Amino acid sequence: MSETMHEFESAEQFLQISNNIISTFKGRLPVSLCIYSNEMNRVEPYLKKETRLTPKKIERINNLCDEGNLFVPKKEYEMLAEHLSKNLGTMLTEHHLDEEDAARIFHDGLKTCVSSFYTNPVQENIESLKTNLAIFCEYLWVDRQRSSFFFNALDRSNCIFAHAVNTLFTGSALYLSSQTHTSDKLEMNDLTLGLAIHDIGMTQLPAALKNKQGPLIYKEKMRIQEHVDISEKMLNRMEITNETVISCVLDHHERLNGQGYPKGKKADRLSFEARICAVADAFCAMISSRSYRKPINPVLAAIVLSKSSEQYDQSIVNTLLKFIVSHNREMKQILADKKKLAQLNAMADNMCRQ
Ligand SMILES: [Fe+2]
Ligand SMILES: [Fe+2]
Repeated sequence: MSETMHEFESAEQFLQISNNIISTFKGRLPVSLCIYSNEMNRVEPYLKKETRLTPKKIERINNLCDEGNLFVPKKEYEMLAEHLSKNLGTMLTEHHLDEEDAARIFHDGLKTCVSSFYTNPVQENIESLKTNLAIFCEYLWVDRQRSSFFFNALDRSNCIFAHAVNTLFTGSALYLSSQTHTSDKLEMNDLTLGLAIHDIGMTQLPAALKNKQGPLIYKEKMRIQEHVDISEKMLNRMEITNETVISCVLDHHERLNGQGYPKGKKADRLSFEARICAVADAFCAMISSRSYRKPINPVLAAIVLSKSSEQYDQSIVNTLLKFIVSHNREMKQILADKKKLAQLNAMADNMCRQ
């Protein structure tokens, strides 16, 4: 304990942690720990990050935790979050973290899982992704209101892994909020895998094509569209035969009017899950930055989808609009501002014409 006693001054600088979190500490401490000292009436450094954990130390830590006297400095919160993102199962029973933080931790953890699987699509990585998706489903299933925190945790950077998790978060929120479809836990599990890996074939396209600055020419667009066929081959190779997963991966670019790709399927051949994936995918693509444009406002993105009734399932788009407005104050204000709304409508008309 070489740190000075007065390094941390007030209670707001600390986060109380639980035995649940401690159970994930193996080998070395991923963060520093502090204890509350009755004598000094303040929180003091106890163990430094990277301290080797012996059974005796773990027992002592657990006792301090039971007494409610164990803390992590808030300045090390990012390190704790990173540690937890590799131990998502902890989130199911963790009550010391608020739901906004939990959503961010899930985003980070699932993004890491998705990136491992996309970069190395082998059985071991898909099993790890499935396990973490099952944890994610369980977490949402016990309290559907949590969807709003996930929705507000979308990462708007230009990253294929972030896009996969964004589509997963949005699609899951739409699924659980749907008024026209009764949700089912097992079906949701399959859907989350479909959402998370819907663009798996993109990994096989050249980076120069995916990151091209400026609009794509016809030939390049055709090449990008090939990602669906590549995905199909990858699913076959990995022997993924689940219908829900397949319909998300193969049909997320199909449109109700038959003008989508790769097969030009019409509404009667598109499953509910594929429609969810199509809306979530298009929405998440619009609200994230691209090498040739800035992120689009989520309300504007949803309006664009609502003006494309011949392409997207409008019951799902309406769920999306309601969801955005009811769970995000800023978006609610935009929609209540008539002048702003008229501007967005005009912009959406413009985008739909392009
Ligand atoms: Fe796609
Ligand atoms: Fe996508």
